[in-house]
Amino acid sequence: MTGTPVPGNGEDRAVRHVEEGFRRVFGADPDGVWAAPGRVNLIGEHTDYNDGFALPIAIPQNTLVAARRRRDGRLRLHSEQGEGPVIDLGVADLVPGAVTTWGAYPAGVVWALREAGHETGGADLHIDSTVPTGAGLSSSAALECAVAFAYGDLYGLGLTPSALALIAQRAENGFAGVPCGMMDQMASACCAAGQALHLDIRAGVHEQVPFAPETEGLRLLVVDTRVKHDLGDGAYAALRAGCERAAGLLGLAALRDLSPDDLPRAGRLLPAHLVPLVRHVVTENARVAEAVAHLRAGLVAALGPIISAGHASLRDDYAVSCAETDLVVDTALEAGALGARMTGGGFGGSVIVLVAEEHASALETAVTRAFRAAGYRAPHLFAVSPAPGARRLA
Ligand code: GLA
Repeated sequence: MTGTPVPGNGEDRAVRHVEEGFRRVFGADPDGVWAAPGRVNLIGEHTDYNDGFALPIAIPQNTLVAARRRRDGRLRLHSEQGEGPVIDLGVADLVPGAVTTWGAYPAGVVWALREAGHETGGADLHIDSTVPTGAGLSSSAALECAVAFAYGDLYGLGLTPSALALIAQRAENGFAGVPCGMMDQMASACCAAGQALHLDIRAGVHEQVPFAPETEGLRLLVVDTRVKHDLGDGAYAALRAGCERAAGLLGLAALRDLSPDDLPRAGRLLPAHLVPLVRHVVTENARVAEAVAHLRAGLVAALGPIISAGHASLRDDYAVSCAETDLVVDTALEAGALGARMTGGGFGGSVIVLVAEEHASALETAVTRAFRAAGYRAPHLFAVSPAPGARRLA
């Protein structure tokens, strides 16, 4: 099993590394170092833009930003992973569409802060990340949140983690042009170690729910399929539009306002192609409530069937699964997993698997073999425990 960095352990090394990178690129010491994690969602997929519920955890992989405030209004960006030289931008010139590379995410945060009326200026930012990109683990939210937290401190903005998450989401919607909901940024900003984050998007509230699979001899594995189907980009916006249209036709503000009992009536009123979308969102919101009740009762294993039912719904009703994620789920369940599902937007990316510790290694072998037999690239498997959300490290 691929080892994952444990929070705290290795953190000092990561801080030193990003500080050294900053000095190498910008020739000075940073004012500080901030981190924000990626996430996996336990249940509650494609519910956030329907004003609904979700239950993500932060993963131990982080994006680190070493940052130094500048007084001349320049925003200079450099990434250990990104290709190319330093990106040099004028804060006053930031407009949507002006930056089309990875720099759109940090630049978008600075733009969103200005749009929200916050007094900010320039900065030098050097970025270093262990969050896999394109794996459905929210590397962009981690980048946005790390920058938002850095700016919040550098400019003394006094913003709460949720307010910074909102800025990060605004950056992604308004500047990078991705019509995502709130889940990823809220997870990266507000998660806590050992806890899942129960999000109620409409109410704008979240609560921490203990999630400790290891106390029941269980493990949560992430299987990064290492595929991302291009189809995903346009399809996400189309699905979101479909949900909004269905809510409008039913005279509702959002699909959050429907309960499972309303489904037969909604089925009679809506055009046939919208019915499965609605069914997924409504049943998925109910699955979040059920999962939270089990966690509150300390019954982690009871999440298994809920997780698997979530996958069936995403595959059959929402149609955002794909051959690779289905293969992981089917193989994992055959190898004794308690539950498995794709996590995130879909069309590739990662699968989460809840499994008893004693079956974990045989399961890894089974998934790896199944991928080889299907002619797919070898997947990445790693275990995760709920990690802390965005914070200052130095
Ligand atoms: C992506 C989006 C989120 C959410 C998920 C699906 O990760 O960024 O806002 O909609 O897909 O649950």
